Amino acid sequence: MYLEKLSLTNFKNYEDGRYVFGQEVNVLVGPNGSGKTNLLDAIYFLALSKSAFQSQDALSILHDASYFIIDGTFAEDARMVQITISLQRGQRKVLMADKKPYERISEHIGRFPVVLIAPNDTDLVREHSEERRHFFDGVFSQLDPNYLRDYLMYQQVLKQRNSLLKLFADQDRRNGNQVDDDLLDTYDEPLLDLGQKIHDRRQQFIQEFMPGFKAHYAYLSDGRETVDIQYESDVSNPDFASEFRHFRRRDTVLQRTTMGIHKDDYSFLIGDSSGQTVPLKKFGSQGQQKTFVIALKLAQFDQLRSGKGVKPILLLDDIFDKLDDRRISKLIQQMDEGAFGQLFITDARPERTRELLSKVKADVRFFEIAHA
Ligand SMILES: Nc1ncnc2c1ncn2[C@@H]1O[C@H](COP(=O)(O)OP(=O)(O)OP(=O)(O)O)[C@@H](O)[C@H]1O
Ligand SMILES: [Mg+2]
Repeated sequence: MYLEKLSLTNFKNYEDGRYVFGQEVNVLVGPNGSGKTNLLDAIYFLALSKSAFQSQDALSILHDASYFIIDGTFAEDARMVQITISLQRGQRKVLMADKKPYERISEHIGRFPVVLIAPNDTDLVREHSEERRHFFDGVFSQLDPNYLRDYLMYQQVLKQRNSLLKLFADQDRRNGNQVDDDLLDTYDEPLLDLGQKIHDRRQQFIQEFMPGFKAHYAYLSDGRETVDIQYESDVSNPDFASEFRHFRRRDTVLQRTTMGIHKDDYSFLIGDSSGQTVPLKKFGSQGQQKTFVIALKLAQFDQLRSGKGVKPILLLDDIFDKLDDRRISKLIQQMDEGAFGQLFITDARPERTRELLSKVKADVRFFEIAHA
């Protein structure tokens, strides 16, 4: 599986861009701000129907334009598939395969698996639980369309339940109405059901994920450090369902659902010199944090490859800026051993990339990205 052609219309700083890529290594070079990361984001968008960097789709429309179109041709098994994503301001985005709209977005996610390694990845370590949930949900969603479907449904029910809690609070303020417990029950039931399913899948996925992740970390750090990830969820408590009901009053006061899988976290741990595991966020060095997230992404790559039976497209944004020479050479060694499939690398310093990749046996193509 690989992306053969890409054309962009009014996507971020690309008014009109057309590319034909190689099946192996594609290097995007150009000055700061020229659009290298934007091009990676277009590929990510095509595969996952959203930007890796913007939560609002409309922010990816070229300033002053009214729509964008991303159009790409993937080689899938032995045939070519044309994927088109378009967005008109104020409308819903449209996602098509060979000009036919998908019925469900979950049919598309994971069809062309992709892994992005980007400079802001260490946010995963430093920021709140939301970032980590978002990352793992992305990993699991690409692997399993059923997970994504359950997850989207959960979000929908959660939103409805929260709106209801707000409505009760408003009514209460105006005319002292009681909370309608029967009505809330109709939301709580599916929420608990879906929450349990998602919890069990997360727990299982993380167990499957750990050995690969630990192996990558050990490889990148020469086995000097131990790392761990602990999945933490309210739902792991065997009495969760009764607790959830017990805290209904609190939810009605706070006007939001305070417990459930939407509060889950994954705690990132590292072994210290005395053999204790401690939080990476508080005690890990910058280098350890970077290595941790790269190992996460490489483990994601492996999990997708074995789950999907194809090598995901790997997008490496400014990776050479992030790693020391030893780690770069380890990554290039992996490239040379054919660990990866199609690869996109950005670099603002073309000489460095040329030098680093000069000995790689793969087919390496360079693309000069100029200011639009
Ligand atoms: N919706 C948009 N419309 C127009 N321009 C945009 C839009 N979104 C982002 N840009 C522009 O894209 C440029 C940044 O592009 P990008 O991040 O891809 O650069 P880059 O080549 O990766 O640079 P660097 O080497 O610094 O990482 C900025 O000038 C930004 O203003
Ligand atoms: Mg960039």
